Amino acid sequence: MSTAITFSEYGPADVLRLTEVTPPDPGPGQVRIKVEAASVNPLDIKIRSGLMAKVAPAHFPVVPGLDAAGVVDAVGEGADAAVGDAVLGATVGGSYSEYALLERPVAKPEALSWEVAASLVTVGRTSHRVLGQLGVEAGSTLLVHGAAGSVGFVAVQLAVARGITVVGTVGEKDIERVTALGATAVRYGDGWADRVRAAAPQGVDFVLDASGAGVLADSVALTGDTAKVITIADMSAQQHGVRFSAGTTEQGEDALPELVRLAAGGRLVVPVWRTYPLAEAAQAQADLEAHRNQGKAVLLP
Ligand SMILES: NC(=O)c1ccc[n+]([C@@H]2O[C@H](COP(=O)([O-])OP(=O)(O)OC[C@H]3O[C@@H](n4cnc5c(N)ncnc54)[C@H](OP(=O)(O)O)[C@@H]3O)[C@@H](O)[C@H]2O)c1
Repeated sequence: MSTAITFSEYGPADVLRLTEVTPPDPGPGQVRIKVEAASVNPLDIKIRSGLMAKVAPAHFPVVPGLDAAGVVDAVGEGADAAVGDAVLGATVGGSYSEYALLERPVAKPEALSWEVAASLVTVGRTSHRVLGQLGVEAGSTLLVHGAAGSVGFVAVQLAVARGITVVGTVGEKDIERVTALGATAVRYGDGWADRVRAAAPQGVDFVLDASGAGVLADSVALTGDTAKVITIADMSAQQHGVRFSAGTTEQGEDALPELVRLAAGGRLVVPVWRTYPLAEAAQAQADLEAHRNQGKAVLLP
């Protein structure tokens, strides 16, 4: 037996319980890892609270979590890893656990910490995917809503590295962090669109909404084209004629190995804010819900 965090009803963070479970067996193409780090994503909170129940009803008990890093201890048929390998990847059946199943495991270089490795999976793939879907080009101007958040922070760096001028909306506490990435940071909240216009007199070509903060109508007005705006967080996207981008995996080549190389080489910073023991998963989620975080919360089983 091993331990995992589970929940058996929707509700606040305290429905999360430390439970005895049987470690899962890897299926074809999967590996089982002894989890060293599992990151907490906002989607974990949306699922636990019941917000996603209509779209994807839960089969209780649920082990939360989307991504993890650890050491392979069992290998499914055809999986591309060996027992003892240090890997990271997207989990199947949850990551808040001593043992988890990974699909498409990617090798973890020594230089990458467990915390960063676990944090990079969903955040990195999502950032890379949405920039591709927007079709951003060197020389254009991109507005990122929620630029100091985990996805926003990585997307800003990927865009700056591609020669894109980036304006990011942030809270007061995050202005310096985002400016240091080579972006122009403006405060979110009332009047944000005027501040963006002042910061980008040349105009805004593309918008990535990683905030879900009700910014789509004004974002469409800024670009003048619904096709130039994408959200990963605003469920009202359709009402605005804007694309909602979902799913952490991409068609075609997986960007994660390259993102791992960039992060291991110090050319991509993944903002890890705090680590927690597995048993404190409820506190980690509560801290995210209270907006106390500046980047990722990571569980260390
Ligand atoms: N569709 C997908 O594939 C996908 C994948 C990953 C994530 N997501 C979603 O994307 C969102 C961001 O995820 P994350 O991991 O980056 O979360 P996160 O680390 O919690 O970041 C959210 C950021 O949004 C900022 N924010 C709050 N109110 C804002 C406003 N009015 N304007 C602009 N920014 C504001 C927060 O700032 P403060 O700290 O000041 O509150 C924080 O920096 C979540 O809703 C998540 O569920 C979707």
